[in-house]
Amino acid sequence: MPVNIEPVVLKKVEELRIALHRHNYRYYVLNDPEISDAEYDRTMQALIELETVYPELASPDSPTCRVGAPPLLSFDTVEHSVPMLSLGNGFTDADIMDFDRRIKKNLDTDEEIVYTVEPKLDGVAVELVYENGRLVMASTRGDGVNGEVITPNVKTIRSVPLIVSGGGEVLNISSRLEVRGEVFIGLEEFKQLNQERLDQNLPPFANPRNAAAGSLRQLDSRVTAKRPLEIFIYGVGIVTDLVLESHWETLHILKGLGFRINPHIRPKILIKEVLEYYRELSEKRHQLPYDIDGMVIKVDSLEMQKLLGATSRSPRWALAYKFEALQETTRITGIEVQVGRTGVLTPVAHLDPVNIGGAMVSRATLHNEDEIAKKGIRVGDKVLVQRAGDVIPEIVKVITSQRTGAEKKFNMPRMCPVCKSEIVRAEDEAAARCINIACPAQVKERIKHFASKGAFDIDGLGDKLVEQLVDAGLLFSYADIFYLDEDKLKNLERMGPKSAGNIISAVANSKSISLGRFIYALGIRHVGEHVAGILAQAFKSLNKLKKAAAQDLEAVDGVGPVVAESIVKFFTQDENLKTIDRIVDSGVEILWESDKQDGVLGGKMFVLTGTLETLTREDAKKIIEEAGGKVSGSVSGKTDYLLAGTSPGSKLNRAKELGINIIDEATFKKMMIDDW
Ligand code: IVH
Repeated sequence: MPVNIEPVVLKKVEELRIALHRHNYRYYVLNDPEISDAEYDRTMQALIELETVYPELASPDSPTCRVGAPPLLSFDTVEHSVPMLSLGNGFTDADIMDFDRRIKKNLDTDEEIVYTVEPKLDGVAVELVYENGRLVMASTRGDGVNGEVITPNVKTIRSVPLIVSGGGEVLNISSRLEVRGEVFIGLEEFKQLNQERLDQNLPPFANPRNAAAGSLRQLDSRVTAKRPLEIFIYGVGIVTDLVLESHWETLHILKGLGFRINPHIRPKILIKEVLEYYRELSEKRHQLPYDIDGMVIKVDSLEMQKLLGATSRSPRWALAYKFEALQETTRITGIEVQVGRTGVLTPVAHLDPVNIGGAMVSRATLHNEDEIAKKGIRVGDKVLVQRAGDVIPEIVKVITSQRTGAEKKFNMPRMCPVCKSEIVRAEDEAAARCINIACPAQVKERIKHFASKGAFDIDGLGDKLVEQLVDAGLLFSYADIFYLDEDKLKNLERMGPKSAGNIISAVANSKSISLGRFIYALGIRHVGEHVAGILAQAFKSLNKLKKAAAQDLEAVDGVGPVVAESIVKFFTQDENLKTIDRIVDSGVEILWESDKQDGVLGGKMFVLTGTLETLTREDAKKIIEEAGGKVSGSVSGKTDYLLAGTSPGSKLNRAKELGINIIDEATFKKMMIDDW
């Protein structure tokens, strides 16, 4: 480090870096953060500021590399010191038994072989090279012999350690450590990324693997930094200075050094258990938050691996046991056009029902007109359909060789299929929309969104009921939800007094809501859950948000001109303001939600007892935590407030004994309420 800089600065920079490496590891590798996101951001900001003032302090393994570096002109290539081989595939138990037999034969043994079995991630293979404990290079697999150097991009992946350490302590590993793993994007993150792309009129990625590959191959790593990439490490290349005997122990050591290892690995099992685990994992795969396309069976002993060696393409000691494909072929029987919350028309393909990986699929999204044209889809076509986790099934391609000539081209309707209003397609947009905001289809979707989980979360007010209520003329806008009449409800078809009563009380119970959820519920175009949260943090009150000008909105990190314009437009429409007033007049309370550290309850400890009237305990807990407080199960000297509902338990007496502040629900709400 340069000598002309004051020692206090050097010390501070070093401290910040160590702290950030540690918090990064706790958050992204262990999934167990010790500080809030806001504090992490502040610490990062402090380091960025110091590195800007003292550019000579820049370091290739500073945590600030995570935000990306200026763009490259092209990628360099590098030869892997040990080729990155591919894997042989097996599809049936018999294939696996053959693999086991071949291994025993090659090793000339009758003894049972010990295997370690891992999920096979469907992402992009990379190699990371550490010298003296520092990440010096990252590359793609390429053709297995030569890969592309993508170091700045890989450095943006938070679960990749920049310095090899055992959870904070920098470990000085001399010389070289090459690790290999799979970079991927989770299913939920993929869905969100594609939604954001659609909102910005960019083409969506076909699947999470393409999204991960595209994100890694960016010349501008600042773009990569914004993509939700993750990594699991599954092997090594050249390793000096570590004595390794078994594959599982290798992974275990890597984990100790701070690398992220998949939690569903089954270590050291025999072939019979391998087959059993395959069944278990084929079930589990649908619950995993990322795509896996099979499992990898590896001989655990490294000595045996060496004896077995490899063919030119793949090692003899490992095999991929593939899962049933999540793609099938079927026929498009028709195309229906659905109208969404913001009036966007989405064509949906009706399919001959087909079983894909255990679920019947009879519909697939076609996104928009351009997508249909690009893929050349016609009604009657035989198509390849793909399903990944709970992502909506999609058409991968048309099997044109099977065309009969009877297939029909599809044209988007010129009128809204529901209200017959005009359809408009802006020049720079892929989406066509129905411009009638009173279109019953739009109204239904807006109300469904309003009552959904991330918004008002009204129990029992599901999609079917919303449709029924709109059709019956009981709901015209989401504000009407709070004025529903129990008598009218109970006379509806498939409804009785009991269900009607349940709906009314679920509505009443939803009336305390955090500002972020409220903003999200409004269904403003381009304002998803994430942006709504950012807006709540930034404006802290609905009134301030309502009055915000485009430039105030754009000043918020994460809000661009398109989003800003959409928000301003929403709040200038009289209709929307009246709707909001009606919601508030019905008694809905918008609760303060703020930055965890600066929250109104910053560091305060709460204990809950008894039954609350309008909040569930979960809601109360969430609100307290969002405002920076904590909730504990028992009263102690550290308790700041006891929030007591009706029929409180013994905690109330204990709190009285200790002289702790006892508050009721109304007082609690006053502490939290948004300034209207
Ligand atoms: S081991 C020499 N383990 O599958 C052994 N590979 O078809 C090479 N993959 O390029 C790989 N998960 O991208 C291994 N747990 C895992 C894996 C895995 C995914 C990918 C990897 C590789 C491809 C081979």
